[in-house]
Amino acid sequence: MKNLLVTGGCGFIGANFIRYLLSESDFTGRIINADKLTYAGNPENLTEVAEKFPERYVFVQADLCDTKAVSDVFERHDIDAICHFAAESHVDRSIVEPDAFIKTNIVGTFNLLELARHRKDKTLLFHHVSTDEVYGTLGAEGFFTEHTPYSPSSPYSASKAASDHIVRAYHRTYGLPVTLSNCSNNYGPYQFPEKLIPLMILNALEGKPLPVYGDGRNVRDWLYVKDHCIAVWTIMKQGRRGETYNIGGRCEMHNIDVVRMICDLLDEIKPQTGGKARRDLITFVKDRPGHDLRYAIDCTKLEKELGWMPAESFETGIRKTVEWYIAHQEWVKRVKSGEYLSWIARHYHSGVQK
Ligand code: NAD
Ligand code: TYD
Repeated sequence: MKNLLVTGGCGFIGANFIRYLLSESDFTGRIINADKLTYAGNPENLTEVAEKFPERYVFVQADLCDTKAVSDVFERHDIDAICHFAAESHVDRSIVEPDAFIKTNIVGTFNLLELARHRKDKTLLFHHVSTDEVYGTLGAEGFFTEHTPYSPSSPYSASKAASDHIVRAYHRTYGLPVTLSNCSNNYGPYQFPEKLIPLMILNALEGKPLPVYGDGRNVRDWLYVKDHCIAVWTIMKQGRRGETYNIGGRCEMHNIDVVRMICDLLDEIKPQTGGKARRDLITFVKDRPGHDLRYAIDCTKLEKELGWMPAESFETGIRKTVEWYIAHQEWVKRVKSGEYLSWIARHYHSGVQK
């Protein structure tokens, strides 16, 4: 893998993946990061690696729905492998405005697959990054395995399910070497503060209400983002082609307990004036429509076949995450004010970095 195309590398997981690959892994090639730079894409997430690895990191602003732009990336950079993160990723947004989810997650993935399939001179590896949400919801018992039937609940998860099926079809029909991963909820540095954990950390720091949907008894399985990145890289290198691997943290938590833990950590690290407990900020709000009750991943296949294990427990990972957000208040300020969007407009024009 000399030239690896990473899509959506300016987002939360993509940026962590590129940072890991260039700084800490055994990858020795070059990364071409193609990202549309939606509200969720922030090139500032990669400033340090861009400066540290000028020969090994290239950024191209490209929308996966623009076939010409993506085909130019293939032609100019002699791509050997693809790690496909780019997506619209937030369930709440997909409920309000599903349009972009269908376009990017389904049509965008299809465009990328078509380019990979028509590559004449070499066979590209295509790794598709997906979610456990494609399986729908669990009741109180059981786990998602790679054989659990798909039953997505939200426009987000339905669009990811569609893309998973198309990726598998390209393997079966055209023999494209693909691998897929379906991962549980991630948390860690650089996550956009619309998702539960960063939203709660930042609201709690500002003394704002902490909106918990419904009764807060929904369960998610949490995985520290770097552990996800290591799993994806392991699958790309050693995973059997055509196979799907579930990735999870074996770390089920009720939402309310996650929020309480964040409150207590912040009270310990950065107490409020007067010592008021941040748990008082918790506010139960109207539930999300179609809210999946419980996700839990059985990742035995990944553990047994490829020897992957998460390094972080929720206790260590959430502490690192809270500390990261406290230490990166300038990043937070720019992201929350939308200042990073005007920074993007100033620095990038027609895909050329100025
Ligand atoms: P994110 O929203 O933080 O980042 C998405 C990135 O994709 C952004 O940089 C955005 O600019 C880019 N993008 C969006 N539309 C694009 C388009 N049309 N063309 C090119 N780039 C585009 O998302 P994330 O949380 O980093 O998720 C990355 C991937 O991992 C997604 O495929 C998601 O489904 C999957 N995933 C996420 C989680 C999670 O907990 N966040 C869990 C499992 C799987
Ligand atoms: P989220 O981070 O949006 O991830 P996903 O919906 O993909 O699992 O939400 C995680 C859980 O937290 C989910 O059960 C919804 C809940 N939630 C809240 O209770 N309040 C919030 O403000 C948000 C954003 C999420």
